Amino acid sequence: MSDNARILCPVLSKRLMSAEEAAELIPAGANVGMSGFTGAGYPKAIPGALADRIRRLNAEPNAKPFRINVWTGASTAPELDGVLAEVDGIEMRLPFQSDPICRSRINNGTMDYVDYHLSEVSQYAWSGFLGKMDIALIEVAGIREDGSLIPSSSIGNNKTWIEQADKIILEVNSKQNAKLEGMHDVYYGTALPPNRKPIMLTDPSDRIGEKYLACPPEKVIAVVETAAPDRNSPFKPSDDVSKKIAGHILDFFNKEIELGRLPKELLPIQSGVGNIPNAVLEGLDAGPYKGLTAFTEVIQDGMLKMLKSGTLKVASATAFSLSPDGIAEFDENIDFYRDKIILRQQDISNHPELARRLGVIAMNGLIECDLYGNVNSTHIMGTRMMNGIGGSGDFARNGYLSIFVSPSTAKDGAISAIVPMVSHVDHTEHDVKIIVTEQGLADLRGLSPRQRAHEIINKCAHPDFRPALIDYYERALHSGRGMHTPHLLEEALSWHQRYEETGQM
Ligand code: COA
Repeated sequence: MSDNARILCPVLSKRLMSAEEAAELIPAGANVGMSGFTGAGYPKAIPGALADRIRRLNAEPNAKPFRINVWTGASTAPELDGVLAEVDGIEMRLPFQSDPICRSRINNGTMDYVDYHLSEVSQYAWSGFLGKMDIALIEVAGIREDGSLIPSSSIGNNKTWIEQADKIILEVNSKQNAKLEGMHDVYYGTALPPNRKPIMLTDPSDRIGEKYLACPPEKVIAVVETAAPDRNSPFKPSDDVSKKIAGHILDFFNKEIELGRLPKELLPIQSGVGNIPNAVLEGLDAGPYKGLTAFTEVIQDGMLKMLKSGTLKVASATAFSLSPDGIAEFDENIDFYRDKIILRQQDISNHPELARRLGVIAMNGLIECDLYGNVNSTHIMGTRMMNGIGGSGDFARNGYLSIFVSPSTAKDGAISAIVPMVSHVDHTEHDVKIIVTEQGLADLRGLSPRQRAHEIINKCAHPDFRPALIDYYERALHSGRGMHTPHLLEEALSWHQRYEETGQM
């Protein structure tokens, strides 16, 4: 039994055990659905205990490698992805990661990885496309008397994992603010086709579901107490490049308002995680805007500041992604933030139907973009995985405006972010409306491929690479091949080839 005030269900408090004991309940080869989204709400103790067990077992003579398949909401933290990847304990990882050890295993071929649109993962699980889920390992902020769960700092895929798993293990984290209770909105109206109904959410502030996660107590095989904070890196202060990018976007918004194409409160904003999106939020906060809304995936530090100043009136997301300072600010002022932030499961926070209906302004990062507006968000030089597509496709394809941002060069100017042809495509030319670098903003709406090439080269390319891009485009145009989307096929990826061979594009 537990005297923990966070564990009120008598049946479940009898299943209390240590992280090491709980880790023993996870068999080799299991499909394990874990909580966690962008460094928030991930289990903090059992993955480490499991990694110790894997290390021990794998060191035994003639050991058969012990590995599991790890499905989450999105990225987690070193205490989950890092520790399990370090002991080579992950066979298959999905749907998103940003961990350096995972990344290197994915790229050296010792870990399989599938990156999915984050809104779609639960549908894949419900449909059985991913196989049977054996165990769900979920961090919660508390267990109520009736066995229902108070979600933690992210919801992600937790509703789906709890429904789909044969067995459930809970980590009850007393470090999570108890006042998170009531901030969540878990929607139980989803279904597989042909039984789907419209999702009746017409404003980011709407609540359409329950405050708690339903959980059948008979499936819970272990409860573990933890007291550890979420972990995210602090943001870099805005530099000159990110300030310039933010400036171009703000000028663009102001012009669209003047033209009557955006209301003065804009439309619900979605902002990817990262230093540049955070700088854009800072820019918006310093501007004339009031009463904006966010329909997004994660709440980062910039959004807290915008809520504080009244620039933003409400934010809907699936998770927090706060720096240590951001967590402290949130914890100290949770009474202020409680009714302004709604956390939903990721199949709702990122739902294509909702992004389209609300007319989201999607702002995400890119690795490279080509002359015609195709965007690569995931692969370095076409073969090496960076993080994954995450929610960028959910919002970019379905949003009212899809904006992609990046410095015009990478690696101290050795790489151009604007290339003749992208080495991998995540967002096609059909989904990309605006490209922004520190050089300028290319508005691709209503432009043909050839017009787009002019706009992107002139507005976004770094001057060091502009002449070579123009030269490529002109030669492609006059090569006697197709004039709709001119390319020199033998040269299209030569910039990447040159970088691999010489370290300079
Ligand atoms: N070639 C090689 N490396 C490149 C590159 C290119 N064309 N462009 C960027 N990089 C490298 C940078 O050098 C940097 O590496 P470093 O830290 O080792 O120097 C890294 O990629 C990140 O680039 P940065 O410019 O700092 O941008 P970022 O942190 O905003 O990340 C993405 C950009 C595309 C990687 C990131 O936005 C992402 O993962 N997007 C996909 C998921 C997504 O959009 N989610 C949003 C929904 S919430």
